[in-house]
Amino acid sequence: MLIAQGLCTKSIKPNNQVPLKFHWYREKGVSKTRQLYPHQNLHIHSCKFAEVETVEKEKIVHDVVKVEPRPKRCVASWFVDLIEKAFVWMMYDKSQPLYYLSGNFAPVEKETPPCSDLPVKGYLPECLNGEFVMVGPNPKFAPVAGYNWFDGDGMIHGMRIKDGKATYVSRYVRTSRLTQEEYFGGTKFIKIGDLKGFFGLFMVLTQSLRAKLKVLDLSYGNGTVGNTALIYHQGKLLALSESDKPYVVKVLEDGDLQTLGLLDYDKRLQHSFTAHPKVDPFTGEMFTFGYSFEPPYVTYRVINKDGVMLDPVPIAIPSPVMMHDFAITENYAIFMDLPLYIQPKDMVQGKLIFRFDDTVKARFGILPRYAKNDHDIRWFELPNCFIFHNANAWEEDDEVVLITCRLQNPQLDLFNGATKEKLKNVTNQLYEMRFNMKTGEASQKQLSVSVVDFPRINENYTGRKQRYVYCTILNRKGIKKFDLEAEPECAKNKLEVEGEVAGEFNLGPGRYGSEAIFVPYHPGVTGDEDDGYLIFFVHDENTGKSEVNVIDAKTMSAAPVAVVELPARVPYGLHAFFLTEEQLESQVVGNI
Ligand SMILES: [Fe+2]
Repeated sequence: MLIAQGLCTKSIKPNNQVPLKFHWYREKGVSKTRQLYPHQNLHIHSCKFAEVETVEKEKIVHDVVKVEPRPKRCVASWFVDLIEKAFVWMMYDKSQPLYYLSGNFAPVEKETPPCSDLPVKGYLPECLNGEFVMVGPNPKFAPVAGYNWFDGDGMIHGMRIKDGKATYVSRYVRTSRLTQEEYFGGTKFIKIGDLKGFFGLFMVLTQSLRAKLKVLDLSYGNGTVGNTALIYHQGKLLALSESDKPYVVKVLEDGDLQTLGLLDYDKRLQHSFTAHPKVDPFTGEMFTFGYSFEPPYVTYRVINKDGVMLDPVPIAIPSPVMMHDFAITENYAIFMDLPLYIQPKDMVQGKLIFRFDDTVKARFGILPRYAKNDHDIRWFELPNCFIFHNANAWEEDDEVVLITCRLQNPQLDLFNGATKEKLKNVTNQLYEMRFNMKTGEASQKQLSVSVVDFPRINENYTGRKQRYVYCTILNRKGIKKFDLEAEPECAKNKLEVEGEVAGEFNLGPGRYGSEAIFVPYHPGVTGDEDDGYLIFFVHDENTGKSEVNVIDAKTMSAAPVAVVELPARVPYGLHAFFLTEEQLESQVVGNI
């Protein structure tokens, strides 16, 4: 029982030059302290220092915008539906089953309210007290025509862990799109899977017509789905998709997940928001960007430790491109201008809206991270490629180092239609890229033979030099741990023997895993970097059952530390996140 607690700041300045903050409390009559990151807030239940709570709360200035769209069912909506139905019947071939709606990609029909006291084989260590969450597409309504994996409504699967016990829950991210489609009882918003050829143009026009006739209310976005990734910043869990603004989801006491609304940072956010912003664990700032097919094609933003979004910084690039991720170091932000172009006019020629040009070099722009404009950005060129996800970046002498998953041959149909066989030809490997800020030279080095993605690290090292990267093997068969400092055996090439693979966890036949999240045993950077656990969802296609697995990240032992049986199937999702007990207690609601 916590009977008193407080906060004090000491003038100890470690490498990052930020004063350390300590939380002190009394438990069972014993005085204890623990270190906090500078940005961490406390909810103080019984405290001698009430002023601390007041000061901390005053810093939260951005509010949650309640999402209350006003769609309209009328003669006009019926008329547009009729035209759409007739056109789809004439132009769209429905004979091919959609791969991303089949097998364990198929959505679950219902949400699962919190289901507690789940069977646990092994044990759930104390540092896992918190909530493990994964988000993925789970379309509530069948698509009118095409479907891309990224089209489905976001559903979060959560596992609340407390004192060795586990509770599972799944809830939709209640977006503007979902609310409006529930009102109509069917799909009304355009899908990425439709954006091909003349048919795609027609579907774009249909959405415009619905907006013009006020059948759909696009005042909260063009169809945001909150289905791609999750992050925690300034007391809020955010569900993200790169097409629109972040949705705020509150984790309740019993682990349940409640969508509160969206964030527009006091109306300062007027563009899309990447699914992969970066939170600096030392400063508490969040760095983000949005991309668009209209100028400015990229807009960079900094959200300070108090939650205030600073002025937009347009980044000039020659053409609109898909930019899924970026990276930060202590002093820089790294943007990736890769030749995966967004070309709406290509649809007139029967092509996809996205086009990869394998003749154009990959460009990496490095900008001082507090720049007010892009005048000081330095651009570097490397051989043609595409990148979905970066692991981390840091500075080393005159160089900026980027650890990334480099894709040689992006296949744009990969996430559309019935295209499973194309997965065989994917070459997505871990790479180290170096950019010399003095000489302007760039180089790259392949680090893995195996095809991997969804790289995760001990996020206490975000933007700082680190050693271990945990990747999902791309067919979801397991997890590889890479040691970036490993030395190859005598007379052997690192790559030939995958010398940098420090461990591998294989799931076995018919079993497939989600992105694995590293949860450190010790807070901050006080322990060994790999001292902790990897937690991830597993689906067994032999039994049709889903689990959460916990493995030892240091040893990568084949014997899981814990296996939690789940009461419902968990479809294959996108990105995951782990909220600590401290973060759960520090959640703030904002004004809704
Ligand atoms: Fe992603």
